[in-house]
Amino acid sequence: MNNTPHHFAPEFDTRPMTESDLSVACALWSVSEGVELAEGDSLAELGSFLRRNPGASQVVVLGGEVVGALLAGSDGRRGYLYHLAVRRDHRRGGLASKMVEKALAALRGQGLRRVLILVARGNQDGRQFWLRNGWEALGIAEPMGIDL
Ligand SMILES: CC(C)(COP(=O)(O)OP(=O)(O)OC[C@H]1O[C@@H](n2cnc3c(N)ncnc32)[C@H](O)[C@@H]1OP(=O)(O)O)[C@@H](O)C(=O)NCCC(=O)NCCS
Repeated sequence: MNNTPHHFAPEFDTRPMTESDLSVACALWSVSEGVELAEGDSLAELGSFLRRNPGASQVVVLGGEVVGALLAGSDGRRGYLYHLAVRRDHRRGGLASKMVEKALAALRGQGLRRVLILVARGNQDGRQFWLRNGWEALGIAEPMGIDL
């Protein structure tokens, strides 16, 4: 994606997420509508995810404080993004677009050619974000799952 809004402000720093960011990121995700913390989202499991996918997940930092977070990784064939959220008071400033752009660049650098995300039904704002950023809704498949 190469359409970061021009209003992304320079005081925001986007950098890869580290394990020490996870507790703040989880706190942000837990209050973000449209983001569901579920199986695989304990700090230990998320730490393992970051170690398996170094450099792809992103945070936005303002004055040392994490105000946006995104998980990104791959299974070696497809890339996946999860849990994109920006703190309410910093939305519509291009922060989510910037994190997505950097995550996609990292996944592209691993040779991946397609990335998927699940958008919760009813999350109209989230849906608009992805559509306005060039993503396409896939009506051809229905997500299914099973607990292990
Ligand atoms: C969705 C979310 C991550 C967007 O973050 P953001 O930093 O505000 O997004 P950006 O500023 O990069 O938005 C880029 C463009 O996406 C579109 N967009 C973003 N939020 C939108 C909204 N609520 N409604 C309609 N379009 C929106 C706009 O075209 C926007 O550009 P513009 O501000 O110049 O019009 C943020 O609203 C959020 O954290 N929501 C709650 C969690 C969530 O729904 N996450 C997605 C899960 S699939």
